[in-house]
Amino acid sequence: MKILVLGGTEFLGRHLVDVALNHGHQVTIFNRGQTNPDLYPTVEKLRGQRDGDLSALENREWDAALDTSGYIPRVVRMGLNVLADHVAHYTFFSSISAYGDFSLPGIDEAAPLAAMADESQEAVLTFYGPLKALCEQQVHEVFGDHALVIRPGLLVGPYDPTDRFTYWVRRFSQAGPRIVPKEPRSLQLIDARDLAEWVMHLVERQKSGTFNATGPDYRFTMADFVEALMRAIPSSAAPVWIPDEFLLSHGVTEFSDLPLWIAISRLEWKAFFTIDSRRAVQAGLSCRPIEDTIRDTLLWDLRDRQGHELKVGMTSSKERELLDAWGEQLDRC
Ligand SMILES: NC(=O)c1ccc[n+]([C@@H]2O[C@H](COP(=O)([O-])OP(=O)(O)OC[C@H]3O[C@@H](n4cnc5c(N)ncnc54)[C@H](OP(=O)(O)O)[C@@H]3O)[C@@H](O)[C@H]2O)c1
Repeated sequence: MKILVLGGTEFLGRHLVDVALNHGHQVTIFNRGQTNPDLYPTVEKLRGQRDGDLSALENREWDAALDTSGYIPRVVRMGLNVLADHVAHYTFFSSISAYGDFSLPGIDEAAPLAAMADESQEAVLTFYGPLKALCEQQVHEVFGDHALVIRPGLLVGPYDPTDRFTYWVRRFSQAGPRIVPKEPRSLQLIDARDLAEWVMHLVERQKSGTFNATGPDYRFTMADFVEALMRAIPSSAAPVWIPDEFLLSHGVTEFSDLPLWIAISRLEWKAFFTIDSRRAVQAGLSCRPIEDTIRDTLLWDLRDRQGHELKVGMTSSKERELLDAWGEQLDRC
């Protein structure tokens, strides 16, 4: 197949390109040439700008387009207008953030989507979810039965630029006590390589429709994750299970100081890690053991990111201070 990737050089896009090449497809990538411009010497590279210069896409034909870089409906529409009669099948990568209410469990593909009062707003950081929902609408309008919309949960694995997962992998590769949230809570993670392999399977079969993709269809918890970290990485790291109340009262912030942690008391986020991905699993999504993702992420972090300072997660000194405070509290009890 002739496949166009709108993006293709940072994380998910990179895995999609790898899978497409492994499957023998002819790949073209379109981007600005800013992120990892030297990747894929043998792949056709079209340069442009989604919000402006789409001329490199004009009058070309592809069997399928994969859109990993669409965030603003107006911008997505500009690309769709250029590609509408030249691409047979269009896959848009949305997000579970497109859902409107995370307070009730069991969110499937029919759950209500997020909305925004002023749909002309384009602040992606503030309106990421509702903007993704509006982008989906544009894709459906133009590609109809030839549109595939994927709503991934947290993507993890090598090349993940967010460091949310890598924080945990690094922490558990280093000796010493490690703060872990104690309350039992669900966690959903999907290796971007598994997502890429499955999406390619759908694209090759010209599947359409909307799919959540948040990982395997069995319950996985923070405790399972910690056990997997201990199994996958030989080190003398030791989890110290600390209740939410202590973490919150000591100023530990969810998702930034302690990535992947949402306090149980946040009822509005109760369902964030319980998204229903059964439809994807029925359509062939298969996930590797999380231990493999942990090991490969560690290898990538050690190999490619010497000196890289993590974007998230508390510093070792802050963790030490908290552990001391926790120890003192236990001594008082
Ligand atoms: N990470 C998660 O946990 C998560 C969860 C749910 C959904 N998602 C969705 O999954 C997708 C992940 O994408 P990714 O970033 O990993 O994809 P990617 O395709 O690997 O990287 C983004 C690409 O977009 C290109 N790009 C950025 N701005 C551009 C512009 N203005 N014009 C043309 N090209 C541009 C970049 O290249 P240049 O910089 O060279 O232009 C780069 O090649 C996103 O749609 C995200 O919303 C992610």
